[in-house]
Amino acid sequence: QPQKITVVGSLNVDICVELDRRPNPGETVMGDDVTYLPGGKGANQAAAASALGGRVTMVGAVGTDANAQTALSGLQQVGTNLSQVENLAGATGVAIINLDREGENSIIVSPGANGKVDRDFVERKAAAIREAQIVVCQCEIPVDGIERVAELTTGRFILNVAPSIPLPESVIKRANPLIVNEHEAAQVLETLGVPVPGTGEGNTAASAEVRSKASPEANTTTGSKANVARSSEAGSAANPEANADSIVGSESARPERFEAMARTLLAQGLESVVITLGKSGSLVAQSDDQLTAIPTAAVKPVDTTGAGDAFVGALAAKLAEGAGLVDAARFASRVASFACQGYGAQASYPTLDDELPALEKD
Ligand code: RIB
Ligand code: NA
Repeated sequence: QPQKITVVGSLNVDICVELDRRPNPGETVMGDDVTYLPGGKGANQAAAASALGGRVTMVGAVGTDANAQTALSGLQQVGTNLSQVENLAGATGVAIINLDREGENSIIVSPGANGKVDRDFVERKAAAIREAQIVVCQCEIPVDGIERVAELTTGRFILNVAPSIPLPESVIKRANPLIVNEHEAAQVLETLGVPVPGTGEGNTAASAEVRSKASPEANTTTGSKANVARSSEAGSAANPEANADSIVGSESARPERFEAMARTLLAQGLESVVITLGKSGSLVAQSDDQLTAIPTAAVKPVDTTGAGDAFVGALAAKLAEGAGLVDAARFASRVASFACQGYGAQASYPTLDDELPALEKD
């Protein structure tokens, strides 16, 4: 039997409209029919892990409005344990999503009940957190709630810093792995008070020093640099984090920058780090190992919403089966690419019956 996974986080209804192009300030744009689908980063990650055979308990909250049922529907379908999800008086979390024809989106989140998943709420769920060998957390709930999750976790703590919010140092350092995109990684380094490698003249010397301290081979990497560069050529591959301000346009990859970020995070005492690079794949860094570049699968993206969550959930499910982090990330990358091919977040996630696309050659 796989290990137990507890996911603590948000449940939303995703209210999505597809349109030719997203509106500019002050502009009205006509779109297609609206869809109401289950979402929320927490629920998405739980759904992805459950659909892939994970033994998952969800900890979180929905409201007492009509949206509550929609928010829970995806998790009910894949058999996630929902005994630790509370109905709290008021609104269910909502995400308002604009989706363009290229599969790119912008998202506004109104937290609703997710905003009440604070320290006291988490305390009431202590048993479900303590008993799990793997605990997964993201950042659509209050920071003091996340902090309590980290404290209560006895097993492996997977932390996805999305959306990017400032977190206490103790929480960041507990993560194994910390899963971040480029921007989230920069924010985390800032929180830790460490210069972000590759940001302007002023920091160059400092970060070079951090790099060589972090690892004696940091400047003479054998092969991993080449790997990263190669995986960035994965042209039409899906983009699990295709937000406008994300990696798009920057995959002329500055692989050294991502490597330096990962090494700098390890040097802060983190056990492992995964930096997700959209369609350029991801970079796995472990304290006792080399950096490993993970490619994506070449698919035509229809809707990338929640593809990053599919990555996190699939990674957790694979780790729960006893896989190592690199194998888990390779599997997760295929799952995230699969999810980009269908509309919606949870609605597009694969089950064990689905054939996953193969990774680009790496
Ligand atoms: O990561 C994607 C998710 O972000 C969506 O499902 C939406 O609910 C927002 O929380
Ligand atoms: Na999708």
